[in-house]
Amino acid sequence: MSDILYEGKSKTVCRGPDDDSYIIRYKDNATAFNGEKKEVIAGKGKLNAAISNLIFEYLAKNGIETHLTKIIDDTSAVVKKAEIVMVEVIVRNIAAGSFSKKYGVPEGTALKNITTEFSLKSDELGDPMINDSQITAIGIATDDELSQMRQKALRINELLCALFLKMGIKLVDFKLEFGRCGGKIILCDEISPDSCRFWDAATNQKLDKDVFRRDLGDVLEGYREVLKRLNLSEAGNA
Ligand code: TMP
Ligand code: ASP
Repeated sequence: MSDILYEGKSKTVCRGPDDDSYIIRYKDNATAFNGEKKEVIAGKGKLNAAISNLIFEYLAKNGIETHLTKIIDDTSAVVKKAEIVMVEVIVRNIAAGSFSKKYGVPEGTALKNITTEFSLKSDELGDPMINDSQITAIGIATDDELSQMRQKALRINELLCALFLKMGIKLVDFKLEFGRCGGKIILCDEISPDSCRFWDAATNQKLDKDVFRRDLGDVLEGYREVLKRLNLSEAGNA
């Protein structure tokens, strides 16, 4: 087994086959509320790996550079070594979650425009929301990097909304992470039901990690449904 460099909440980062790569391994661990709620959900790692790999390959075909280089097996992939920009980029199409709570907007309200926001990646501080001038003031990212991340996030939103709409799924909101690699900003981490809100377009049934966060039933039922529909989509057939 490869050397572990970093043990994350839902993925392990291991030494890669060369100095420019890492191997990431998806785990079955689920956490919510900054790690306060924890469970092992057998099979989640495989589902997230399969979903995220299909989405990253679809994005790469559509001009978004990502860290994914090679799929190794059901839960592992080789990725480019990137220096993670320590902010999470959140894109919202429909009000839900912390946005609904913070601003008193009922869940499910269509937003008049797409919103982007940043959170500081810090477990100790509970990932607080942070604005552009605060990010540049602390030196977490430059203005140019922020504008690249926002632009890429909005393009990813366009591509994913189109893909998921054809699958009968509303992309409510999602979180992205970017990294610096070879002088460029590239998409890193994962895009999966752990990091997105996916609602069935016909029934609004939740097909994502909110089922775990809110104790709404069988967590993986929605994940399996997302993978099934992705496999039948342009992303699965390409
Ligand atoms: P929020 O409404 O709780 O702020 O979440 C917005 C989106 O970000 C949602 O799709 C879930 C995702 N997310 C993560 O991927 N990791 C996190 O730690 C949190 C809080 C949210
Ligand atoms: N990733 C977060 C955590 O455990 C939670 C979430 O996704 O809601 O800490």
